[in-house]
Amino acid sequence: MAWLLAPLYDRIVAPAEEACFQGWRHELLAGLTGDVLEIGAGTGANVAHYPAAVRRVVFTEPDPGMRRQLEERLAAARGGGTFAPGAAEVRTDRAAALSVPSGSLDAVVGTLVLCTVPDPAAALAEVRRVLKPGGTFTFLEHVAADDRPDRLRWQRRLDPVWRRVAGGCRLTRRTAEAIEAAGLEPVDLTRESARKAIALIRPTIRGHAMAPITALDRPSS
Ligand SMILES: C[S@@+](CC[C@H](N)C(=O)[O-])C[C@H]1O[C@@H](n2cnc3c(N)ncnc32)[C@H](O)[C@@H]1O
Repeated sequence: MAWLLAPLYDRIVAPAEEACFQGWRHELLAGLTGDVLEIGAGTGANVAHYPAAVRRVVFTEPDPGMRRQLEERLAAARGGGTFAPGAAEVRTDRAAALSVPSGSLDAVVGTLVLCTVPDPAAALAEVRRVLKPGGTFTFLEHVAADDRPDRLRWQRRLDPVWRRVAGGCRLTRRTAEAIEAAGLEPVDLTRESARKAIALIRPTIRGHAMAPITALDRPSS
């Protein structure tokens, strides 16, 4: 189904993008600086929200249909002056195998992607590997409806079908817990229902987590 999803994706999510996701993306990315990598960048919904303080962004996206739209959006952003020449690059990396050195990035961004990667723990271990100590992981994800037993039951029931039609997306992931389990330290976390989204993906989390700073990372006095 993936070949069918890519051309329809932006149209399917448009109501929720307009109602809340775009505003959330803007707030989440506003404080980023330095060298950044985005995992599963899709059609490039975050492209317009990177602030000028970001020096360079590596956008990664393994799906060719999604990647084509990402490159188009990026070309338009470059034309509009959002990214200077050389400040943005597209790669095909999967989240569990990123082609960047350990401890090299100020921030990693992942939005609506940990629902889809086959092994979120492996992806998050990789996020932690590539971040500098004190670097941030910025996230927005839909999650299991733990506060709504009725909705959680429907998520569990429909998960096998949803997974097939939505490119591998899972409805019942507990991503806040997975981020902490990966050793990324919570900085801020907001739980909010996504307006105008399909009911099954309304429960969301968003925020930032930090790669730990160990005693070895601190300059000795
Ligand atoms: C629901 S879309 C979200 C796209 C985008 N991040 C956004 O916020 O609109 C999920 C994306 O994850 C990508 N994806 C799937 N498996 C992946 C993997 N193993 N590693 C990285 N990205 C993956 C898909 O190709 C798709 O573009």
